[in-house]
Amino acid sequence: MRYNFDEIIDRRGTNCIKFDFAQERGVPEGLLPLWVADMDFRAPQPVLDRLAALARHGIFGYTDTKEDYYLAVANWLKKRHNYLTEPQWLKKAPGVVFALAMAIRAFTKPGEGVLIQSPVYYPFTSCAVTNDRRPVVNQLVLKDGRYEINFEDFEKKLIQNKIRLFLLCSPHNPVGRVWTKEELTTLGQLCLKHDCLIFSDEIHCDFIFPNHRHQVLAAISPELADIAITATAPSKTFNLAGLQNANLFIKNPHLHSTLSLEIRRSGFSQLNAMGLAAGQAAYELGEDWLEQLLVYLKGNLDFTRSFFQERLAPLAIIEPEGTYLLWFDCRALGLKPGQTNRFMLDQARLWLDDGDIFGPGGEGFQRLNFACPRPILEEALERLENALKRTTK
Ligand SMILES: Cc1ncc(COP(=O)(O)O)c(C=O)c1O
Repeated sequence: MRYNFDEIIDRRGTNCIKFDFAQERGVPEGLLPLWVADMDFRAPQPVLDRLAALARHGIFGYTDTKEDYYLAVANWLKKRHNYLTEPQWLKKAPGVVFALAMAIRAFTKPGEGVLIQSPVYYPFTSCAVTNDRRPVVNQLVLKDGRYEINFEDFEKKLIQNKIRLFLLCSPHNPVGRVWTKEELTTLGQLCLKHDCLIFSDEIHCDFIFPNHRHQVLAAISPELADIAITATAPSKTFNLAGLQNANLFIKNPHLHSTLSLEIRRSGFSQLNAMGLAAGQAAYELGEDWLEQLLVYLKGNLDFTRSFFQERLAPLAIIEPEGTYLLWFDCRALGLKPGQTNRFMLDQARLWLDDGDIFGPGGEGFQRLNFACPRPILEEALERLENALKRTTK
């Protein structure tokens, strides 16, 4: 079937955090929201059908999964990412961020450092801080419009802080890098050398633009597989975030049992029945939808790039290699700290994610989610253009 991603579906009044929680989150009402990383597109039809069948059945008791669930996820990872897994490696969790927090608790002690690469998805920092760990920052380096890793600093931070856990974001939110096999191999070797585990958050792995390829870190070598927790989820890929379903793959039995114990300690046992059904259906039958979506998103990116180049100077985009998130540089506006966000809220009437919240290196940047119908994207960019015109008059 053909999907119409241009369709504008009104999400207001559905209690979605993107549209319905401006007041609670301290932003003015009536802004156009392109912040949180979910999409304004309906999930694939086979997912809707599976959920409808479950709703018709009408009993939502405790639910778990059998081999067919594992096979749905494993076949997807094998086919799309050449990542071969085994059933006993799977550990299900109600979200990647939950799993990340559990990994921090399982593998580090209060007061210890956790290594992150900023600017980075903000729960990496907050999960460390709220669990009384110290986020240790290996800041990414912006060089000729592209972010790179400072490996020397990475190793120094590992040694100086006796780091036992590195939180990798791959592909990287917000800067859009799809790390190459070489980069990941170097990071991995440094972690092996200094006895550091890697929580590899690969939730954005299905959004890769042409000429780039996602490399699963744990698939690089058996040695790396031994120190890695690979976090995947259907939530970004098929727009199921509210159903809270994530799949971790942990080859090392000791790491698997240590993390599993920490998850049991939290009181969590089974996942949400709807989330499991939706995730399985998506991996089994959602590929055609995803292929069409990727073409649409590439179109949105091309449109956005041209718009910035032709009409939004001096703002400049960082070309994303993956994800549906656009990181753009507003430093040329010369605004004081905190004022870029106010400009977006008050002048452009846009609700984006402010660069500051992503940690060191995020100042003066904004993150825009372009996974929305093109007319919405166009309106957002026009709002930005008008705001720029008004302020530079
Ligand atoms: C890198 C990254 N990890 C995790 C998440 C959220 O995952 P979950 O909803 O499964 O906790 C997001 C959502 O934006 C993300 O960008």
